[in-house]
Amino acid sequence: MEFNAENFPELFVDYCDLSLTVENPDEIALQKFNNLSELNWMSRVKPMNNCKPCMEPCSNFQKYYIPVGGKKVYMLIESLASDYEDYNIISSFFTDTIRSKGKKNADSVYNFFQKNKLEILNNIRRNCRNYQSMNYYQKMHEVRETVYNIFGKRNECTSHRVTVPFSLYHYFNAEKVLDYSAGWGDRAIAAMASGIAYTGIDPNPELHSCYKRMLDLFKPQQKVEFIQCCAEDHSTDEVYDLMYTSPPYYNLERYTDHPDQSIKKYSSYRDWKEKFYFKMLLNSIKHVKHDGFIAVNIINWTNRGCNYRMLDDMINFMMDKNQLFMGFIYYNGGSYKGNAMPIAVFRVVH
Ligand SMILES: C[S@@+](CC[C@H](N)C(=O)[O-])C[C@H]1O[C@@H](n2cnc3c(N)ncnc32)[C@H](O)[C@@H]1O
Repeated sequence: MEFNAENFPELFVDYCDLSLTVENPDEIALQKFNNLSELNWMSRVKPMNNCKPCMEPCSNFQKYYIPVGGKKVYMLIESLASDYEDYNIISSFFTDTIRSKGKKNADSVYNFFQKNKLEILNNIRRNCRNYQSMNYYQKMHEVRETVYNIFGKRNECTSHRVTVPFSLYHYFNAEKVLDYSAGWGDRAIAAMASGIAYTGIDPNPELHSCYKRMLDLFKPQQKVEFIQCCAEDHSTDEVYDLMYTSPPYYNLERYTDHPDQSIKKYSSYRDWKEKFYFKMLLNSIKHVKHDGFIAVNIINWTNRGCNYRMLDDMINFMMDKNQLFMGFIYYNGGSYKGNAMPIAVFRVVH
């Protein structure tokens, strides 16, 4: 059968976006969103007994933990294997294609899909005998899974898990949240499902039409807004009770070539740290109320022999600014080198 758009429409799309794998993506996203809003977050917060904390390269602050249940163990926001299908997939109904354009190790998943359609088809044919008898959506699902298995697993940009901010917002009793790198929308969706006010900042212009679609579908009653700007340039009269984000990990992932991206503006680690990272932290201190919280998911990270101590640099900086470092909360599930990921938590002191 000739390889063309008529015979293989599932391979002649812009990208094998999640929303193309089902007939009614909005209905499914809304259903999962409603289920998220009912999630019993307390059942997810527990002592971290069975998984290893990701502190590599090793952190000087490893011993700071936020205890749970009066025990001397880190607090874990637990993710279950079923969370991906049940909840965490929600953001991909909106931002999948934009995320696929980001680069991590090699080329983007988007470019891989564009350039290797025949190889993808041959791989599916080897592994899926009944492919030809499938309907369009099932085929699209196979294409997507195959792209993930042969390329995406190692090369796609990571996403956050909606269940993590959902539990964290409730744990801190947050009512008004600022997110300095809104990214794929996981923290925004969690805020909408929690019924709390949210401001998401992100300079990537392509993401903002996706955020608009989230607002149109989920129709939050509380104030939820997105601002296209850089965290380091943001200023407002609003006062928040939590700033929670997962910022770029310096140049680990390169999301777009847009000139407002932090690594496009500040290419050396030193510049990036001082002009983006620390400025974003200073803005957080400024816009969060006294006794409010700043929570940041980031790791120390090594690349080609360079050791970027992003976690320790942040904690040292915040302590220098007289902010109270409370310790780490962790979340598990498919994270960096399979270990639980840290969220550093500060109490704001004005
Ligand atoms: C996608 S998130 C990071 C992903 C994260 N590791 C996670 O687990 O979700 C990073 C976001 O930071 C945004 N970003 C880049 N430069 C920025 C800046 N100057 N100010 C605020 N956000 C920025 C990017 O556009 C991107 O959407």
